[in-house]
Amino acid sequence: MNSALRIGVIGCGLRAAVYCDGVDRVPAVQLRAYADVNQASADRFLAKYGGGYATNDPERVLADPDIDAVFICTWHDTHTALAVSAAAHGKHILIEKPMALTIGECWTIEEAVRRAGVTLTVGHKMRFMPMVRRAKQIVGQPLMMLAQMMNDRIPDDAWSLQPGVGGGSVLGAGCHLADLLCYMAGSDPVEVYGVGGAITHPNPEIVDCAIATVKFANGAIASLIQGDPGRNPYASTFFCEVFGKDKGVCLRDRFHQATLGGRSDPAGAGGSHAGGARGYRGGRGAPPPFCRQRLAREAGRVPGPRGTHRNDHDGQTD
Ligand SMILES: NC(=O)c1ccc[n+]([C@@H]2O[C@H](COP(=O)([O-])OP(=O)(O)OC[C@H]3O[C@@H](n4cnc5c(N)ncnc54)[C@H](O)[C@@H]3O)[C@@H](O)[C@H]2O)c1
Repeated sequence: MNSALRIGVIGCGLRAAVYCDGVDRVPAVQLRAYADVNQASADRFLAKYGGGYATNDPERVLADPDIDAVFICTWHDTHTALAVSAAAHGKHILIEKPMALTIGECWTIEEAVRRAGVTLTVGHKMRFMPMVRRAKQIVGQPLMMLAQMMNDRIPDDAWSLQPGVGGGSVLGAGCHLADLLCYMAGSDPVEVYGVGGAITHPNPEIVDCAIATVKFANGAIASLIQGDPGRNPYASTFFCEVFGKDKGVCLRDRFHQATLGGRSDPAGAGGSHAGGARGYRGGRGAPPPFCRQRLAREAGRVPGPRGTHRNDHDGQTD
């Protein structure tokens, strides 16, 4: 009996290719069908990854009884209708971030998923990155955090910057940082203050850059910085600092490198990994050997060279 999870891909663009490249290596998952409003895109995926069919009608995939789960990797304004339909057809869902363009739409999806009893996951990848998980494990409860995502300037005509389609990059990509901070804090936000606007682009209807201050229910406080005035080569696209009571971590290089600082080696913290907390150097210099070793080991499990997935449509990188 074939027990593989059968996947339908909706939206055959840059992000879907990242998933398909990964899933293609997992025997327990089978890529079965591809839908894109642009038939040629769906055809390209079928030719590359194999499967049953390619179509320009997403409903055909959503209603297909031989499909167990769908990847929804389309433009943001289409997420809600596709997710609600997927749930109604009993499909499990991996939906790309942002879940939807408004909070109301998110609740609509949540209700549809709850009613159907299916599983939904949003593509907030940062909390799954090996270095991020390790940093959280080492620092423990954060007191203060800084999370930054900085892109090179996204073209004005990118779909992600069109108000009704992508919603702007603070909504479209800044949600990564919001999720990262919630993960690191281990808590939900209770107060948010912010400034931002159309700072790098001419369209006043979108927020393309913003700085927010967040207070979490457990007392942790954070800054979130999102924009596209251009990357700082040291910080790279993703940058994050987390300060705990005795330890801190600076994640950079798209979270492939971390520098750890600590005043002491609290009982238990140093025993779970080679080198221990005493080996960490704060602030300056190359990451300590433990970080490099850890990265090398994790990198072996993560397909593809790092930092090569550049999204040419919206300037985001995965
Ligand atoms: N998690 C990440 O790191 C990450 C990175 C980049 C993009 N994304 C997200 O992935 C999603 C897709 O982005 P992308 O960069 O792949 O865009 P893309 O433009 O490369 O691909 C989107 C595809 O969806 C198709 N499409 C649009 N509306 C459709 C519909 N109603 N039905 C079927 N197909 C439709 C388009 O024709 C296009 O081929 C977005 O939600 C984006 O924010 C996530």
